[in-house]
Amino acid sequence: MRLAVIPGDGIGPEVVTEALKVLAEVTPAASDLDITNYDLGAARWHSTGELLPESVIGELRQHDAILLGAVGDPSVPSGILERGLLLRLRFELDHHVNLRPARLYPGVQGPLATQSEIDMVVVREGTEGPYAGNGGILRKDTEHEIATEVSLNTAFGIKRVVADAFARAQQRPRKHVTLVHKTNVLEHAGSLWSRVVEEASMRHPDVTVDYLHVDAATIHLVTDPSRFDVVVTDNLFGDIITDIAAAVTGGIGLAASGNLDVTRANPSMFEPVHGSAPDIAGQGAADPTATVLSLSLLLDHLGHTEAARRIEASVAFDLATRDHSSPGATQAIGDRLAALV
Ligand code: NAI
Ligand code: MG
Repeated sequence: MRLAVIPGDGIGPEVVTEALKVLAEVTPAASDLDITNYDLGAARWHSTGELLPESVIGELRQHDAILLGAVGDPSVPSGILERGLLLRLRFELDHHVNLRPARLYPGVQGPLATQSEIDMVVVREGTEGPYAGNGGILRKDTEHEIATEVSLNTAFGIKRVVADAFARAQQRPRKHVTLVHKTNVLEHAGSLWSRVVEEASMRHPDVTVDYLHVDAATIHLVTDPSRFDVVVTDNLFGDIITDIAAAVTGGIGLAASGNLDVTRANPSMFEPVHGSAPDIAGQGAADPTATVLSLSLLLDHLGHTEAARRIEASVAFDLATRDHSSPGATQAIGDRLAALV
């Protein structure tokens, strides 16, 4: 496996170190693993002004997958790393499926008063919608300034994420897909999303389908999150509802994600949902579990399903048995997971 690793900033390198420890344990022989580190992020931008050099994109393409810690630092103006590095990677490598599972593991005390089983996966479109960068500002700094941010929705783009969502649902016990949108107001995009889902549902008679407006979805995610199995949604709605999904399943220290090119023309990238957490960086206080679970998604994507299941089982065991009031230092959690796996 040729793996590109972008440790990044803040707690990124700390959590990635622990995930690589776990990876070493599930790798039959050290020679099976070829890891290249890429120093991208705030530090590189400060020292060279570079965000994502063309040559690095070329090199990243030569790998089977990418593992990312997190990038971002208070010293870098907002938007520079997000657009110039993270979004650029997603667009260049055509990461059209942003996969975000949310599962309430036994032993984890979520914030909801009633604890019911939560096991859902959000398939968020990753390259279109309002995040495509189609917009601009006119008459800047005048009373009549205009800003546009056009939401792009292509039949091609929607079809491929909807197909992925149905394929995933078919592999899951409940075989259920929920489309989340705002079709009553965003009529044009909503109509296209609805029609694509309807067509897909005809091809998958064994998968049940329902629809929720995004605002109603936020209610259900808090009052009855068990109802969700696979959720398919656009880039912006997916960004927002996956934070709620992470919150109700025990928080940001556990939330994993994958940015997938499901055609496999480009390497997919796996990362914890959280950021670089400058407030706790360097203290050994970051929970590496989200990164370890992202590694499990990575292995699953590459077909190493047995290794992926072993990592998940180790995390499940650790979460069921750990003292959640003091889960241990970053390194201690990593050591436990490496030993378990
Ligand atoms: P954040 O996710 O870094 O931190 C939010 C809160 O959660 C903080 O209190 C932090 O201490 C805590 N936290 C985060 N990860 C944790 C972990 N593994 N264990 C325990 N606690 C954890 O979000 P924030 O503060 O909004 O952003 C910080 C920087 O990260 C910013 O520069 C932002 O742009 C960047 N960012 C980068 C992302 C990425 O690389 N994909 C994603 C989100 C934010
Ligand atoms: Mg977000």
